[in-house]
Amino acid sequence: MLATAQAGRNGKDHRMEMTTAMLSLQQMVDEDLFTCPRCNSPVRPADGQWRCAGARCVYARQPFPVVAGVPALVDFENSVLDADQLRTTEGASEVNRSGFTSKLRTFIHPANHTASTRVAKMLTVLRADADHAGRRPRVLVIGGGTVGDGLGDLYTDPTVDLVSFDIYSSAAVQFVGDGHAIPLADGSIDGVVIQAVLEHVLEPTAVAAEIERVLRPGGMVYADTPFLQQVHEGPYDFTRFTDSGHRYLFRRFERIDSGAVAGAGTALLWSIDYFVRALTRSVRMGRIVALCLCWLSRLDRVLDPKYSVDAASSVFFLGRKTDRDISRSEIIDYYQGGIYVRSTS
Ligand SMILES: C[S@@+](CC[C@H](N)C(=O)[O-])C[C@H]1O[C@@H](n2cnc3c(N)ncnc32)[C@H](O)[C@@H]1O
Ligand SMILES: [Zn+2]
Repeated sequence: MLATAQAGRNGKDHRMEMTTAMLSLQQMVDEDLFTCPRCNSPVRPADGQWRCAGARCVYARQPFPVVAGVPALVDFENSVLDADQLRTTEGASEVNRSGFTSKLRTFIHPANHTASTRVAKMLTVLRADADHAGRRPRVLVIGGGTVGDGLGDLYTDPTVDLVSFDIYSSAAVQFVGDGHAIPLADGSIDGVVIQAVLEHVLEPTAVAAEIERVLRPGGMVYADTPFLQQVHEGPYDFTRFTDSGHRYLFRRFERIDSGAVAGAGTALLWSIDYFVRALTRSVRMGRIVALCLCWLSRLDRVLDPKYSVDAASSVFFLGRKTDRDISRSEIIDYYQGGIYVRSTS
């Protein structure tokens, strides 16, 4: 069912209203989707308070905060999120997410065709699956506070039930949560989309394990994550992945597709942008130079993918949950680049 999400929970979008494929909070409650991020017991709202049903759990005594009308289902003792701060800011993002910066980024970089086509492929497979016959595929977006590049169609797809959360509240999420302890029931999700998020979490392996837990058997993941990109989002930026490292992160998934999202041209453009920032002590100067050189990222299209993946700006993985890890030798054989030559001597 289509639900209308009221924007304006987070500063900038106040007047906006968008029609989306998002489930309503009430639908999620009715389907018993919510669980405690501390003990995995069910969580249901009663008299406006969201509490854990686990008798001995700290969140049974102390309800989860409600910020800007949505629950913050976070185990605060084990998260970078702070309950008091969330209450004070009404769940606003600590990172400035001005519309102008993202518009400029869209102009400098070509649209993320990889995300749109691979997510479309994922939905085709999920729709055909018998496991959820009689209902729409349920897709979870992690770090979905803003609609990611190439994901616009997903948010308006009437054949999908969309669930989305982030560490801050916005029109594009139903609740606030932390990917390290996703407050959703085991096996309750058919597909996960996680775009440009894994570099911002402290423990990517823990987040990958959570993705696996919430997915039903045979569920699918689409992840795209930076490899050679400079620090963005300031203190909330921790990790990068090679294509092989990213594939290994999803070691309990069968690979359907993977490789570079944006190649060596985009990586070069980012490097020049940040080099100019450092040289001139000016973010604006870096952006102006990047704007003038934006054709560099367009060159990705003519690069040899085997060489480009070794110098990619970002990489992606599309896979299906299995019950076995890939082996050490399989991850060595997986290497998709063109630079390494195995010594035979
Ligand atoms: C670079 S933005 C990408 C946002 C969006 N996915 C996109 O592609 O436009 C990174 C996102 O990850 C979110 N994030 C950071 N740490 C997180 C965590 N522990 N759990 C869930 N989301 C997180 C941030 O709040 C932010 O929205
Ligand atoms: Zn609990």
